[in-house]
Amino acid sequence: MISGSFPNSRPRRNRKYAWSRDLVRENSLSVKDLIWPLFVQEGKNTATDVSSMPGVQRYTIDLIIENAAKAVELGIPAIALFPQTPEELKCDEGYEAVNPENLVCRTVRAIKEQVPDIGIICDVALDPYTSHGQDGLIRNGYVDNDLTIEALVNQAHVQVKAGCDIIAPSDMMDGRIAAIRQMLERKKYFNVGIMSYAAKYASAFYGPFRDAVGSSSNLKSSKETYQMDPANTDEAIREVIMDIDEGADSIIVKPGMPYLDIIERVTRELNFPTFAYQVSGEYAMIHAAAANGWLDLDKAMMESLLAFKRAGASGIWTYFAPVVAEKLKHA
Ligand code: PBG
Repeated sequence: MISGSFPNSRPRRNRKYAWSRDLVRENSLSVKDLIWPLFVQEGKNTATDVSSMPGVQRYTIDLIIENAAKAVELGIPAIALFPQTPEELKCDEGYEAVNPENLVCRTVRAIKEQVPDIGIICDVALDPYTSHGQDGLIRNGYVDNDLTIEALVNQAHVQVKAGCDIIAPSDMMDGRIAAIRQMLERKKYFNVGIMSYAAKYASAFYGPFRDAVGSSSNLKSSKETYQMDPANTDEAIREVIMDIDEGADSIIVKPGMPYLDIIERVTRELNFPTFAYQVSGEYAMIHAAAANGWLDLDKAMMESLLAFKRAGASGIWTYFAPVVAEKLKHA
C-alpha cells in the first residue's frame, strides 16, 4: 500500500470534478451483476401488491412472462422464482414441492418456451409448501436433516426437468449440495448449475419475504436449528468450503448488508463466485425510510448495491433489479 503525506499528497485533488472521480473509481455496478427475484401466484392477468415491499408484486404466470421479457430487454442476466402456494395445497410433508405440475414448474416451462434468453434460478426448500412453514420435514419436533434431503433432491429434479438453469438450495440442510449434485450427474444434467445459499443466517430481515410467499402466518417457531447464528464468521467459511467440495458452482451470503464482512472474507479467502442477497427486509427498510422522507430512495438504493461490489460480490440478488437496470441505462 502506497500512501503519501500532506501537503505532497492531497487526496481531495482526485475528488474535485465528476470526471476525475469517474477516472479513479475502484468499483462499479453493472446491470450484468443483477439477479431479479420474482414472486409467482396462481391465476390469470393478476398482479398483487406485497404490502411490506413497496413496488414489488406477485404475478400470475402470464405476467411473469412479460416481466421475464422486460428483464431481457433491460439486460438483467437472470431471474429467480418464488411461488406462493395456495393454502389448500400445503401439508406437513410439503408434497406439492415435488409435483411436476406445481406452480413453479409450470412457470419455468412457460418462460423457457416464450423467453428462452433469460437465466432461470429456482429456490430449493420446502417452506413455500409446508403447512408449518419450516424449510424441511419435522420429526419429533425437529427438522430432520437426511429425510429432508431426499425431498429436496426430488424437488430439484422436478425443477430441472421443467427447464430450470440454476438450482439454488436455500434450506441449509447439511449435505444437500452433494445429494443434489449426485442426482444431476446420475440423470445427466451435467450443465445445470448449483448456486448454494452456503452462508444463510437465521435473520429477522426475511419477514417481508415470508409475507410475499404466504409462509409467515404458518411459521410458529424459528429456523435457528438449521440457519446460521448471526454471531458466527468462521462457521460461514466452513459452510462455504463444504458446499464448494460438494459441487456448488457459486455461493450466496444472505442477508446482504448486515453481513458485508462475510462477503468480503469469503471472496478474499476462497476466490469463488460469491453472490450477495439483499433480502426483503433490507429492501423494505430503504423504502420505509424513503417514504418518510428520511432517505433519498435512489441514492440509498445505489449506495447499498455498490457496497456489495466493494465487498467483492460477483453479483447481487435484489428486488431493486428492474429499477436499477433502468437507472443504469442513463448512467
Ligand atoms: C426460503 C427462503 C427465504 C428467503 C429466500 N428463500 C426465507 C426464509 O428462509 O425464511 C428470504 C428472501 C428474502 O427475505 O428476501 N427458504
